[in-house]
Amino acid sequence: MNSFGLGLRKKIVPELLEETHPIIDFVEVVPENWMNVGGYWKKQLDQLAQKYRFVAHGISLSIGSHNALNLKKLQRIKDFMMRYNIQEYSEHLCFSEYDNVHLFELLPLPFTKDAINLLVNKIHKAQDFLERPLILENVCYYSSVEKEMSEADFIREIVQRTGCKILLDINNVYINANNHNLDALELLKQMPLEAVEYLHVAGHQILETGFIIDSHKQAISPQVFQLLDQIYPVINRQVPILLERDGNFNGLQPLVNELHQLENLVQQYSINA
Ligand SMILES: [Fe+2]
Repeated sequence: MNSFGLGLRKKIVPELLEETHPIIDFVEVVPENWMNVGGYWKKQLDQLAQKYRFVAHGISLSIGSHNALNLKKLQRIKDFMMRYNIQEYSEHLCFSEYDNVHLFELLPLPFTKDAINLLVNKIHKAQDFLERPLILENVCYYSSVEKEMSEADFIREIVQRTGCKILLDINNVYINANNHNLDALELLKQMPLEAVEYLHVAGHQILETGFIIDSHKQAISPQVFQLLDQIYPVINRQVPILLERDGNFNGLQPLVNELHQLENLVQQYSINA
């Protein structure tokens, strides 16, 4: 059975609680947005946890920055995961802190040996602390990044040296390929697909110049559906697919419809679990 999930946002909480859509197998929860809430929203989250399986998707660990790993934050995330019986914790291959200033952006890392060495050290520490592999997501980059190697080789070496897993965001690969004149399918094929734990798909915004922004406020584009269609049989095993949506909500049903579209797409491949 393929598995499909939705990113949890407050706008869709009432419908997630009131309605039942069997296609929603799991909900991706950003710990930083929920672990300090009390009162009404804490009760909503507790109710959701009775109904859906949660996975955690962090946004502020800044695993790629020079700052020491924030073990206090990781402890709060670990406690949150324990409280809601969450097994999987994903984060971004990025940095979002510099000299202890939080930048509120998921900024790309240079694809260099130095960056790998820094990441490997911090990933090992985080994995030891959390007692599970990190699941790390490829991010968008809007300006060029320093490259001693391809993004795929960069990610592969990190996987090989740490045993971490990959959250492969198909939309991010498409956006980077478009914005930097690269071949999206080739980029995907070169990734360490054997380490992919689950996939992200989302909508994006195309500017008049043709440049694409990772907005998560639109339906999944036909181009991203096509890429998924091309890479899914190459991955050649069932991997969960998570739909991210951050804005322009028009109820839960359009998102459920998109999940069914994703299901139809992957069902055409008779791939064993
Ligand atoms: Fe993503």
